[in-house]
Amino acid sequence: MSRPIQSNFIQKASNRRSFLKKGVAAAGAATVGAAMFPDGLRASQEESSGNLHKGDAAILRFLAAAEILETDLWQQYNELAGVDVTSGPSFLYVTALEQLDEDMPQYISDNTDDELTHEEFINAYLASKGAETVDLTRFATLPSSKADGAKQVGRLTNLMHLNVDTSWWTRYRSSTKNPDFGDSFPQAVNINNRTAIPRTNDDLVADGGKASGVSDRTQAIANVAGFHFGTIEQGGTSLYPSLAQRVKDVEVLRIVLSIGGTEIAHFQTWHDKAGNAPPLTDVDPVTGSKVVFHDLNNDPGFGGEEFQTNLIMPEPTIFLNRNFPKCSIIRPTQTKGAAMNALNALAGSNLFLGQSKEFFAFLTSLAQDADAAQREGDH
Ligand SMILES: [Fe+2]
Ligand SMILES: [Fe+2]
Repeated sequence: MSRPIQSNFIQKASNRRSFLKKGVAAAGAATVGAAMFPDGLRASQEESSGNLHKGDAAILRFLAAAEILETDLWQQYNELAGVDVTSGPSFLYVTALEQLDEDMPQYISDNTDDELTHEEFINAYLASKGAETVDLTRFATLPSSKADGAKQVGRLTNLMHLNVDTSWWTRYRSSTKNPDFGDSFPQAVNINNRTAIPRTNDDLVADGGKASGVSDRTQAIANVAGFHFGTIEQGGTSLYPSLAQRVKDVEVLRIVLSIGGTEIAHFQTWHDKAGNAPPLTDVDPVTGSKVVFHDLNNDPGFGGEEFQTNLIMPEPTIFLNRNFPKCSIIRPTQTKGAAMNALNALAGSNLFLGQSKEFFAFLTSLAQDADAAQREGDH
């Protein structure tokens, strides 16, 4: 793949990084969690926006970065479970994913392709307007899976220690709550420090005693992936409309609405598949982390409209004001701080485990610039 790079980008990025390093040192050692993205780490020098409004360019740059990160994680899934995996140890991971839907390899490959086109289109559009583009290549330093099929290249994202927030499951089933009103939602599955891809061939274990031929160890990894797909794509589903509210130019709005719509299409597909994850309990022999996948329709504590697996369309709920009639909507879509919220959610999931301070500082500066964009009064 080729990613356009403006000739002055590297120079400005290194200026920004040296500034950011000073900022981190002055603020004290950056640690994990909320402190990974300290406030006030702003670039001393803004990127060029070319012929675009400054805010529109900043929004597109943050979205380009998000798409590059999506591409990176989807490529890891695609190498181990896409349509090209037809034999070898990883085929057991394919078989496990096919327990959720026999078309999973096709959907995984298509989602991967889509993200790559989002990334390339947004950067090409920025470049066509003389605005600076985004390149994260220098941060692709994280290890690959060692299972057969995975390319041994540096990665931007880490799929091997995920905390998967599955509260979107109950959020989209609620008819009385909305995250934009400050409401919170129970998890469908508690997934903490679990791998979503086979780390080595040791994670690919057959079990002739199961109808699928797949051990619980391998099926658990596929189940985690099945929910992670939904978690990632519901994030994009909310991020695009949240940022669209602060776009100024109609053509940029068209881009954001048109790409955002395919994130919704992805989410809807994964939402439908995750509910087919076979119920099981597994303790990871490497980390000791336990996961329990329940029968969401029947197990005690589950069942009913909060969990029912075929309720995959957004349940009408409160929107804007409780006095309005309920409405079937994407949620959340609140625009204030939306880019930073998205970045914090990804970081909280351990998706960037092992990344450098410079990576977090750079992504933070892109998010802060996007969140500073105004629909009115900007230039
Ligand atoms: Fe995307
Ligand atoms: Fe996506």
